[in-house]
Amino acid sequence: MPYFSIRTSLISSIVLLSLLLARPSSATKVVQVNIICAQTRDPSFCSDILNSKPGGAKGVDLVSLAQYTIGVARFNATKTVELLNMLVARKGSDPRAKSHYSTCLTHFDKYRGALKHLYYVQQVLRNGDYFSLLKAATLLIVDVEDCITGDDYGYFDMSILPQYADVFEKVADIILTVSKFLIRN
Ligand SMILES: *[C@@H]1O[C@H](CO)[C@@H](O)[C@H](O)[C@H]1NC(C)=O
Repeated sequence: MPYFSIRTSLISSIVLLSLLLARPSSATKVVQVNIICAQTRDPSFCSDILNSKPGGAKGVDLVSLAQYTIGVARFNATKTVELLNMLVARKGSDPRAKSHYSTCLTHFDKYRGALKHLYYVQQVLRNGDYFSLLKAATLLIVDVEDCITGDDYGYFDMSILPQYADVFEKVADIILTVSKFLIRN
């Protein structure tokens, strides 16, 4: 019996200790989707994206939401690069169009653009460096702004590119917003 009770108290000490150590840190902080999304440019778009996380977004920590959103952004940027390659090929004879789409390609591609910066975003998130995450997410938005307005070089863009770039920018805005919550918590 004494042996048993020592063992029991040892176990309860371990349980207590792990409860103390497992107190919520920023890494496991949970913020409701509607509270996060209220801070974004397009709250209903934001809710749709975060709630599309397999298994739902309820009770999911901020880091996991950021990770999921980075995946969405990567998918959107990849689709946009595919679209741009097609547009550059198709509009080869129109110098203004070609110049606009080629520039946008550099804003999205994996060498200089959003896909490269997304890799960096992933790294700093993994390192828990949320200030760098905020900066990198801001860069993503700066990257693609010209491709939404479509009128640099005096070119009025009639393609679907502005819509694609707008989706990407709104997804990047979610990453930016989550990074602010990560810094705050
Ligand atoms: C962006 O990603 C979302 C989620 O993966 C997808 O539903 C949507 O079709 C994508 N949009 C574009 C323009 O790639």
